[in-house]
Amino acid sequence: MWDGRFSEITKSRRSSKQRGNPTTKTTTKPEPERLHYTIKELDSKTWPDFEKFFAKHNGVQGGCWCTFYHHPEGRLLKEGLERKDAIAFNRKEKKTLVTKGRSHGILVYTGGQAVGWCQYGPKEELPRIDSGRNYSNLDLPGERGRKLWRLTCFFVDRDFRKKGVAGVALKAALDSIREQGGGIVEAYPSTSKDGGTWSLWFGTVAMFEREGFKAQAKLGEKHLLMCKTLA
Ligand SMILES: CC(C)(COP(=O)(O)OP(=O)(O)OC[C@H]1O[C@@H](n2cnc3c(N)ncnc32)[C@H](O)[C@@H]1OP(=O)(O)O)[C@@H](O)C(=O)NCCC(=O)NCCS
Repeated sequence: MWDGRFSEITKSRRSSKQRGNPTTKTTTKPEPERLHYTIKELDSKTWPDFEKFFAKHNGVQGGCWCTFYHHPEGRLLKEGLERKDAIAFNRKEKKTLVTKGRSHGILVYTGGQAVGWCQYGPKEELPRIDSGRNYSNLDLPGERGRKLWRLTCFFVDRDFRKKGVAGVALKAALDSIREQGGGIVEAYPSTSKDGGTWSLWFGTVAMFEREGFKAQAKLGEKHLLMCKTLA
């Protein structure tokens, strides 16, 4: 499903092997900027890149540091702390989770700089989804012996948006889940783009349709539960 925007994608998470070359589709649109992207998994080695990337955006979404979905109660900033201390607390917590292997995510690099992020993880790692009102009200069929994975956050550097980086991160996250044994993958995309960039942290419906996800249920007025099974 490549749209010809990328000259090459490489992945250096485990084997540093070259990923498949993108195919090019005939298009009448002008050729967008061609960038070279590299994919890495977030871990202790890549933490400094993630830290620099998120620090550039003040921890992202008001200092979350992508910790929100790790908590059943969905805490953004810890109560009782000064704002700057609460943001520093989230950064430290994220680092601890990464060090302990309890936080997963894909980093997309260009020119040696991390510019794209997709958080994924097994359901136990991202329990906030279970306690969300719209999700917990659903009558879901259950995992039926398969592992359940979640895709909870996308973030792209403000200087690299609208170039397909989020789509690159999504493809890489699915590759990574597949390499880790696969299972059912859940996504919760926004059904409207009207809220603009900040409202699209779950991604768009079309992003997941392009990767073969199917809609399962409405999640309130603004989101869908979409799923795909990876063997
Ligand atoms: C939403 C976001 C991830 C999109 O990344 P991107 O690399 O620019 O997106 P892509 O070029 O791959 O496009 C993906 C889709 O987003 C849409 N999109 C991107 N920017 C948009 C904008 N400003 N307004 C509306 N739609 C937008 C594209 O039209 C495309 O839609 P489609 O799937 O229906 O074709 C990026 O704008 C971002 O990081 N926003 C902030 C999100 C955030 O706060 N995340 C924090 C979670 S830790």
